[in-house]
Amino acid sequence: MREDQVYAELVKAALDARKTAYVPYSHFSVGAALLTGEGEICTGGNIENASYGATNCAERTAIFKAVSQGKRAFRAIAIAGGMEGLEPVEYAYPCGICRQVMQEFAGEDFRVLVVKSPSDYRVHTLEELLPYGFGGESIR
Ligand code: THU
Repeated sequence: MREDQVYAELVKAALDARKTAYVPYSHFSVGAALLTGEGEICTGGNIENASYGATNCAERTAIFKAVSQGKRAFRAIAIAGGMEGLEPVEYAYPCGICRQVMQEFAGEDFRVLVVKSPSDYRVHTLEELLPYGFGGESIR
């Protein structure tokens, strides 16, 4: 499959994963779809908590699900977010904590797709979103 076809599938999965978000407080549902090195897609939604700080973002839900299943090589992640029940009106850029978690597992080729609609998304490198990042090599 061509890269743009794979991305189109990943973008759809992120938009679809918004349905799994648990967002009784913000009503802002985010979906993430992670593409593994083997070409599998692992999805996640944001999971809020009455103790707001315990909330988990969609990106980390997807990444932690995959890592807990023994996957560690990832090619891309697509992210879509907007008010619950409505289509996104903006590109969904990941928060700082999620950028840091991506840094832990992302290789040079990793791409971050921020999604507005199935046909409207931007592709970024993690370096663009997290320049001068802190990683494992920083503490060796
Ligand atoms: N959120 C994400 O799921 N991903 C991000 O990168 C930014 C924020 C969620 C957390 C919270 O449930 C809601 O969006 C509003 O902040």
